[in-house]
Amino acid sequence: MRRPLWIKNAAQLVTVAGGKGPRSGPEMSDLGLIEDGSVWIENGKIKAVGTTAEMNAQFGEWEEDADVIEAYGKLVTPGLVDPHTHFVYGGSREKEFEMRLEGASYMDIMNAGGGIHATARMTRESTEEELYGQAERRLDSFLRHGVTTVEGKSGYGMDLETELKQLHIMKQLNERHPVDIVPTFMGAHAIPPEYKGREEEFVSLIIDEMIPAVTSEKLAVFNDVFCEIGVYTPEQSRRILEAGRRHGLIPKIHADEIEPYGGAELAAEVGAISAEHLLKASDEGIRKMAEAGVIACLLPATALYLREKAARGREMIDAGVPVTISTDCNPGSSPTTSMPLVMNLACISMRMSPAEALVAATINAAHAIGVQDKAGSIEPGKQADLVLWNVKNYQELQYLFGVNHVGAVWKKGEKVI
Ligand code: NIG
Ligand code: FE
Repeated sequence: MRRPLWIKNAAQLVTVAGGKGPRSGPEMSDLGLIEDGSVWIENGKIKAVGTTAEMNAQFGEWEEDADVIEAYGKLVTPGLVDPHTHFVYGGSREKEFEMRLEGASYMDIMNAGGGIHATARMTRESTEEELYGQAERRLDSFLRHGVTTVEGKSGYGMDLETELKQLHIMKQLNERHPVDIVPTFMGAHAIPPEYKGREEEFVSLIIDEMIPAVTSEKLAVFNDVFCEIGVYTPEQSRRILEAGRRHGLIPKIHADEIEPYGGAELAAEVGAISAEHLLKASDEGIRKMAEAGVIACLLPATALYLREKAARGREMIDAGVPVTISTDCNPGSSPTTSMPLVMNLACISMRMSPAEALVAATINAAHAIGVQDKAGSIEPGKQADLVLWNVKNYQELQYLFGVNHVGAVWKKGEKVI
């Protein structure tokens, strides 16, 4: 048996405990905050949580048998969960960054063969070892920013071989790297140039060949589609998502990112677990998402990076939509691994409160990728995925922005940072 771990005397312990489904409305402000908090960990799992006085009464006599961490004056939270990333890719696109600053639009660059197509070429050309190494470094960086679980999407292959290559890398990294990875198949990320004018053939390839191949190897949990003008229509998106569902994949949608296109409405109609981006989501779409309980996965770093107005996070929360936030880590529209920055931006550009940003980045993110039973909160029985922050309270974490405040990270009770 491993020695127990006791983190004690935290100025604030944010548990985000309690509740069943993804949180919406006023529940998004409920941090389950414990002042002078303490958490006792055994065999990688949380055994008990409470004030340090309570934990002293319960475990004080075993203190000498435990590894004790003094969190005096500091904040402890659950490990952050990033529910939307594209972290397995080849190459980089810094030239496009410059082009966009000079006035080119994201879609113009993509339609001229850059953007997602450029990364797909570089990913197809990369060896498995190269891709693995780059992806591993990105996971290390996530961990340094307090992220202990990520979702990861394929979609830079758009041919069966490369899609499987990306998903195999995620599978291997999930087994070897401390960060837990939840894989999503996103063959419908763009229409590859070789299928231009034959879009329906590519949709059929995804439905008839890629989805069955991916699911026969159990390489993905979710199925995502870039539903956008000039990419996949709502009707094509629906067919791809329904085909995925027949094979056990849960739908997600990149919706209404660049133009309003009925993506939020579609997410509600197909019963997607989440809809992503939503910069241009309509009022009707927001209302339908609230009704259907679709989680809004908002990506304020992407909006900033594309110099677009952020999604209407405040309005969505007020309308009763459960909201999560994510880096969208990818080489084009958001090359970052910093969830703390994303929490800062959720407050600054979407007027979410510091508490809402933390709930969005923990338990709601866990719900958005189906790991709510083991991650996203500090509760007995869950994995001991924890972050010690060098700040005195949760407000300070969001207030001192653009800085990495991570002091230590534990994954399944092991100190990894
Ligand atoms: O979520 N919008 C589509 N996909 C990614 C960007 C991918 C890329 O530019 O490489 C996103 O922003
Ligand atoms: Fe994305």
